[in-house]
Amino acid sequence: MEQRVTFEPSRSLMEFRLLPRLTTVDSTVDRICLDIPLVWAREGQRDIRLKIPLVAAAMQSVSGPAMGIELAKLGGVAFIYCSQAIDVQAEMIAKIKSHKAGFVKPLTVSPTTTVHQIEAIKQDKGFSTFPVVSEEKVFLGLITQRDYDAQAHGRLPVTDRMVPRDRLDVAVNVTDLKEAHARLVESHQSVLPIVDEADRLLFLVFRKDAQDQVSHPNEVVDDKKRLVAVAAINTHDYQERVPALVASEVDAVAVDSSDGHSVYQQETLQWIQANYPDLPVIGGNVITEDGFDFLVGAGAQAVKVGMGGGSICITQEQKGTGRGLATALMKVCEARDHYFQKTKRYIPIVADGGVTTSKDVVVALALGADYVMMGRYFARMEESPTEKVQINNHIMKPYWGEGAARARQWSGSRYYHAAFVEGVEGFVEYAGKLRDNLDEMLAKIKAAMSSCGCKTIQDLHERAQLELVTPYAIREGKVHDVFQPGSETVGNLGTWNR
Ligand code: IMP
Repeated sequence: MEQRVTFEPSRSLMEFRLLPRLTTVDSTVDRICLDIPLVWAREGQRDIRLKIPLVAAAMQSVSGPAMGIELAKLGGVAFIYCSQAIDVQAEMIAKIKSHKAGFVKPLTVSPTTTVHQIEAIKQDKGFSTFPVVSEEKVFLGLITQRDYDAQAHGRLPVTDRMVPRDRLDVAVNVTDLKEAHARLVESHQSVLPIVDEADRLLFLVFRKDAQDQVSHPNEVVDDKKRLVAVAAINTHDYQERVPALVASEVDAVAVDSSDGHSVYQQETLQWIQANYPDLPVIGGNVITEDGFDFLVGAGAQAVKVGMGGGSICITQEQKGTGRGLATALMKVCEARDHYFQKTKRYIPIVADGGVTTSKDVVVALALGADYVMMGRYFARMEESPTEKVQINNHIMKPYWGEGAARARQWSGSRYYHAAFVEGVEGFVEYAGKLRDNLDEMLAKIKAAMSSCGCKTIQDLHERAQLELVTPYAIREGKVHDVFQPGSETVGNLGTWNR
């Protein structure tokens, strides 16, 4: 008879620590490579590789086009959420695909626009550089806030205050950022207008952006050097959603489901394989070996693992279903390894839900995950789609689950048919720009790998030694028994020395 009850406990990432191993000259921090495949690529499909093992969750409060663009530049990808109208999601994908790093499609003004109107646009949108173009889009000049005084020149047309085209260095049909950057280095301008052969304005390249962009070695790009864009889909409207996403040139799709071990997901995966064999597809979420075998059998090329661990998730409480992420990863990665031995197909595993800090990331990777999906972590960044708010002297950003009331009302939501909420709404502390935060996160991941003598994520899978820790060991590993003025961290006022 099939075993129905197990007394083997379900473990969380928080319960494990890595043991160090010999660090060699090969595994010093500067030599570590975090490169990992997004999916197992079928014959004829391009091998899309992430440069860092982190992806942003398919959630309304996390992954819009700004996150998609910035994270792809920095080596990961954001899964653009599907709890929205199909055409709007497709537009978001198109925006990521059409993003030309450093080449900005600017808001233009006509020659009759007044300085006063320019000021109003500036207040509203926050830009202060405006190209002036004719009705035929011919570039006439550039006006920035340095060129006028709002009080003195308010009524004048922009043509009276702009720097005209003949006094500007203008590039024709330049498409290479390095070339644009070189032009800017030689000119005295902070911005380079790019026009076509008929003098129609194409882009602006800003000196600051060009400097940033030239140093983006980790960009995840397609074979035309465009940023890679990934979209979430659901099991209800995929027959309309997938064609629209493909028309926007999406690079891969991920079936977004809290319980992927279902015939609905099987149908979705099979339909994609039959109708869009070139489109890589990620399945999930599952937490068992059977779930993994089922999804891979249906055509999943990477599998997302986790149920009930998300920071905003109440699935375990509402339904009693779920599994600690560490146990889920161990079980599913075992199935993945068996599958690899049998078929020589390596299916990447994505750890999803409840991964909070760099130490969780490292433990998830050491347990066999290839990359990690995070919601809360990315929701705190400038690039998430929400507005900052101030609460009790803290700058916060709202963060809510896809199963919370405000998200699941969307027909594209994975929770659309649910009769009850599976997620909550809350706030997370604003953390600033993604790239500043990511640098620190990656430095910690690399430092841990280096301590374990592992140069790659594959090494970590093969060689990492993990140990279960007791609550006492966890407590010992935190700050304890010292008083830190102003800190509210639990453990600061320990009881050991009383
Ligand atoms: P976090 O990184 O701990 O915040 O978890 C994010 C993950 O939680 C997502 O990638 C989803 O898998 C999952 N999730 C998103 N919304 C909900 C929800 O409303 N209920 C349960 N899980 C959710």
